[in-house]
Parts: sequence; structure tokens; C-alpha cells
Amino acid sequence: MTESTSAPTYFIRTFGCQMNEHDSERMAGMLEAEGYERVDSAEAATVVVFNTCCIRENADNRLYGNLGHIKPLRDADPDKRIVVGGCLAQKDKDLIQRRAPYVDVVLGTHNLASLPRLLAESKKGPSFEILEQTEVFPSALPSRRESWWHAWVSISIGCNNSCTFCIVPAVRGVEVSRRMGDIIDEVQRLVSEGVVEVTLLGQNVNSYGRDLDGTPMFSRLLWALDEVPGLERVRFTSPHPKDFKQDTVDAMAGAGVVCEHIHLPVQSGSSDVLKRMKRAYTRDKYLQKIAMIRTAIPDVAITTDIIVGFPGETEKDFQETLDLVEYVGYDAAYTFQYSPRPMTEAADLPDQLPKEVVQERFERLVELQDRISIERNLGMEGKTFSVIVEGVSRKDAGRLTGRTRTNKLIHFPDDGATPGSFRKVRVLSAHRNHLDGELMDGGVDRAHRSPMGLPLLASSGPGCSC
Ligand code: 5AD
Ligand code: SF4
Repeated sequence: MTESTSAPTYFIRTFGCQMNEHDSERMAGMLEAEGYERVDSAEAATVVVFNTCCIRENADNRLYGNLGHIKPLRDADPDKRIVVGGCLAQKDKDLIQRRAPYVDVVLGTHNLASLPRLLAESKKGPSFEILEQTEVFPSALPSRRESWWHAWVSISIGCNNSCTFCIVPAVRGVEVSRRMGDIIDEVQRLVSEGVVEVTLLGQNVNSYGRDLDGTPMFSRLLWALDEVPGLERVRFTSPHPKDFKQDTVDAMAGAGVVCEHIHLPVQSGSSDVLKRMKRAYTRDKYLQKIAMIRTAIPDVAITTDIIVGFPGETEKDFQETLDLVEYVGYDAAYTFQYSPRPMTEAADLPDQLPKEVVQERFERLVELQDRISIERNLGMEGKTFSVIVEGVSRKDAGRLTGRTRTNKLIHFPDDGATPGSFRKVRVLSAHRNHLDGELMDGGVDRAHRSPMGLPLLASSGPGCSC
């Protein structure tokens, strides 16, 4: 990465979810294929891309704040280009044009591949294009990955559900699954480049393949990935509780490559609220899924998403959420205050709750989950885990940070291991969001996969010190 270069340069700022991170890597890949070089700041870049999110309202405000900041630089440099892509662009093309007329390119979620063409056309004036259907599956585009050992792999795009709070179906469209052969080919290629862990991405991974085969194929995909030599870990996000069935649990338990972590968004512990959210499961049905998972994978880590203050949520409904959180004992929860979104049913529901009520409930939920997260982590003290090194700890330069298969962040002494290598680490102390540990048996871990799958010998990735 260099900032004093004669080649055109780019900088991408990504908001929102992993799908957006994946799309940003594709936009970076396309720009690099066109000869652009990456720089570390919007100020230094010829092309500045904002890859936006619109799932909650504050995302809008942040985008316009960023655009206002960059405007003087655009005014001062006729060659500079400002690009707005992603979900907010898909939803608000005209508004962006009105509020920030100096933006050069707007492209939506369905036409990432058009970025180079739209940039070329922007020499003649603003170049905006939004499509209603995906032209090219984003995974088929070149990529510039942030990590050499981890990769996002999108298995489907769009969502056929109609959760009443959610804007995603309106901006990402109907569900389209990618051919299984294409996914396996991509994963094999990634492994040949040194990747050891992939995260499968889809709005509702459990319905993967329904549009291809008439029946969901997600568990088949997990078993197929278990056969890819050299692949060590598979994660996925997000499953939907209504479509999460025994076959997926069996694949998680039996396919050694699949990590013992599941993110299963519950949204609310009240069946009444779930009904108004159109989640298509009740509190009891959700708890049955949790029991099914814990029976098959006793050491599994479970995380979730929860929305507080959905329209009409009563104190009793909220108590049911607290009660469910306590009962399940989540390792972590992403907690959100309900945010009314345009083009969603819930935005028009009566009984929108006052801000203070939502805030007060939100704080109670966070306090409860914090206590449970610490308790779950305390249960890991004294145990030894296989860890993939992510890099030097941000807090302590003498320590490394890695992640267990259960997705826990763990800090341990720096033995010179490079990112992507495996270490065996024993947990010494537990905190809310991380663990502290020590290296065991010389540190190097040679049997990475879960004991239920086939143990593999360590493959030394690029720069691995073992
Ligand atoms: N308000 C608050 N949270 C929301 N989410 C989605 N839409 C909204 C909204 N309108 C949360 C859900 C989802 C996560 C990605 O974002 O919990 O699972
Ligand atoms: Fe949104 Fe529901 Fe689809 Fe998830 S399943 S993306 S919450 S509509």
C-alpha cells in the first residue's frame, strides 16, 4: 500500500454486515484489475467508495455526514470521484442525488459489476444506475481479500421472508442461490491460495438451494465442504430458526470442518411479538431448536440478534425476552433498538414505543447479557482450544489475538506466529468479550479439525512459523 503513486488510487469505507464486507472486497478486486492501487484514506484516494447499509436509521445519518466531509475535497479536485454503493444506494438513489449532488456514481446491490463502466461514464457527468435484479453473482467477480487465510463466500443473495421490521428484502431482492458446484470450486481455489477458513454468507442460509432444487440443500453443502482437503473451518451466517432443521444440526455435529458456533437470531422471546414480526416460529419452537443443537453439540457457542421495542411490545413481552435470554444462556447477543424503516410493514403498526421506554429496556437487556457472557466465558477457564492467529493484539503489542472454533477472541503471548497459523491455547482468565490464555505444548496445533471430523495434519500457510 502506498500513497505516493502515479497510478489512480481507491479507498472503500464499508458500513453494515458481512455481506457488505464481501461486496467491498469484490469492488476492490475490480478496481485493482483496472489498475487502481489501494490507499488508507479518503483524502488520498482518487476514487472514494462508500458501501452503505440501511438496516437501521442511524446508517443514513452516518453516510450523509461522511459525504459532507468529503465534499470540499471533491470540489477542489476535478479528478476525484465519489461512489455510493450498497443498500442505501439501492433504496435512495434520488435522495442521494438531491442531498449530495456532487456524488459521481451511485450503484445498487444488484450491479456491483458495473462499477468500472460507471466510473468511466462519470467523466461526462453523474452516472447513476440501480437495477432490480442481479446481473452477475458477486462471487463471480474478482476479489481483493482483507485476509489471506479467511474468505467470505456468498452462497445466496436476497431473501424471500417478510419479517415486518426488515428492509433487506426490499433492497436485496428475492432469494437467488448459487450453484453448489460453483461454491465448491471457489472454496477449492481459495484453499489452494492458502485459505483455511471460510464464512458462508446468505440472508437465510438454511433455505439455500430451494430455488435450484425445490428443496433446501444447505446441509448437503456442509457435507460437501467437509470433503475439501486443506479446508479447516467453515462458519455460516445467518440461519433462520424456522428453516433450521435436524439435517443441518447433523451436518454441524458430524462434519468436522463446521465450527461449533451458531448465530441463531431470535429477535424476541414473546410469541405475540414474534407473530407480529412475521418470524414464523413461536418462543417454544425456537427453544426446541436450541435443545436440538445443544443435544447434538454440547460445547456449542450460541449467539443471537434481539430487537428491543418492537411496536406494541409490552413489559410482559419484554420480560419474556429477558427470561429466554437467561434460559438459553447466549455466549453473546447483538442487541438493537427497533428502528422503523420505510417499505416495511412494522413502520405503519400502531403503538410505536416512546424512546425512553425502549432505552430503559435496552439497558436492562444489555446488563443481563453482559453477565451471561462473562459466565459462559468463565466456563472456558482451564480448557485448551485450537486457535487461529488473527494478528498482534490491539491492546498489548506483546500478545497475539486469535479465535477459537466457537468464535471466542483469545489473547496469548506472542511466539512469532503469523496470522493464519494454528496455536494451542489454554484459557487462564475470562472477560466479557475476550479470554486470556497461555500457549500449550509448545503452542503449535497439529490437529485442527473438530474431533468429530477427520483430524488433519497442520498445513503451514504462507509465513507460518511452525
Ligand atoms: N430495527 C432494529 N433492528 C433491526 N434489525 C433488522 N431490522 C431492524 C430494524 N428495523 C436487526 C435484526 C437483524 C439484524 C441484522 O439487524 O436483529 O437480525
Ligand atoms: Fe430480514 Fe427476515 Fe430476511 Fe433476515 S430473514 S433478511 S430479518 S426479512
